[in-house]
Amino acid sequence: MKLRGILYYSVLTGHTVHEASRIGRRLALACIDALRVAGESAGPADPGRLQFPPRGKPHYPGGPQFSISHSLPLVACAAVSHGDVGLDVECDDAVLRLSLATISDDAERTLAREIGVRHVWMAKEAALKAGGGTIEHIGAVRVFAGGATFRGRCYHECRLTLADDRPAAVMTSEPGVPFEVHRL
Ligand SMILES: CC(C)(COP(=O)(O)OP(=O)(O)OC[C@H]1O[C@@H](n2cnc3c(N)ncnc32)[C@H](O)[C@@H]1OP(=O)(O)O)[C@@H](O)C(=O)NCCC(=O)NCCS
Repeated sequence: MKLRGILYYSVLTGHTVHEASRIGRRLALACIDALRVAGESAGPADPGRLQFPPRGKPHYPGGPQFSISHSLPLVACAAVSHGDVGLDVECDDAVLRLSLATISDDAERTLAREIGVRHVWMAKEAALKAGGGTIEHIGAVRVFAGGATFRGRCYHECRLTLADDRPAAVMTSEPGVPFEVHRL
C-alpha cells in the first residue's frame, strides 16, 4: 500500500463535548474507509470494531492507525496507511503559555519564541498521542523543529491549516507522509 495520510475535520456549532466525541468517531471511520479503499480491502469499516480503551490510544484492529482531536468548534481525525500517528488541534491558547513553561526545556522555549507557543504545545501533544501517552507523560516529549521524540521513538511533524486558519499538528513515525485534508 502506498504511503498516505488523510485528515477529515468538521466545524461544529452548538455541540457539546460528548457530541464532538461522537463525531470524532464518525470521522475516524471515514478515514479508515478512505485508506482501506486505497488498500483494496473490501467493505466499509465496522463501527463495532473501533476500540477506545479508557485513557488509551483508540484503534481499529487490523486497520490503519488514526488519531482524533477536538477543540470546539473543531473536531478532526488523522489516519496513516503506515506507522503511528498523533493529531492535535487547539482553538484556544489561553492556558498553553503557562502549561508549556512548566514542561519545556531551554531549546523548546527558544523554539516557542520562534514559531509560537501554540505550535510547540500542539507538536508536544501530537507526539504524546502518537506514542499513546497520557497527559502525565507530556513532560517526557521533546519537541524540535520538524519533529519530536517520545519513549525512544522519533516522530516527524506535519503542520496543516484547517478552517479559518486554525492550525493542526500531526506527528507520524514515517517521514514525509503526504496528507490530504478534507472538511466533512
Ligand atoms: C491524550 C490526552 C492528553 C488528550 O487530551 P485532550 O486535551 O482531551 O486532547 P484532544 O481533544 O486532542 O484528544 C482527545 C482524543 O484523543 C484520543 N485519546 C485519548 N487518550 C489517548 C491516548 N492515551 N493516546 C492517544 N490518543 C488518545 C481520544 O480519541 C480522545 O477523544 P475521545 O475521547 O472523544 O475519543 C489525554 O490522554 C488526556 O490526558 N486528557 C486529559 C485532559 C487534559 O489534561 N488535556 C490537556 C489540556 S491542557
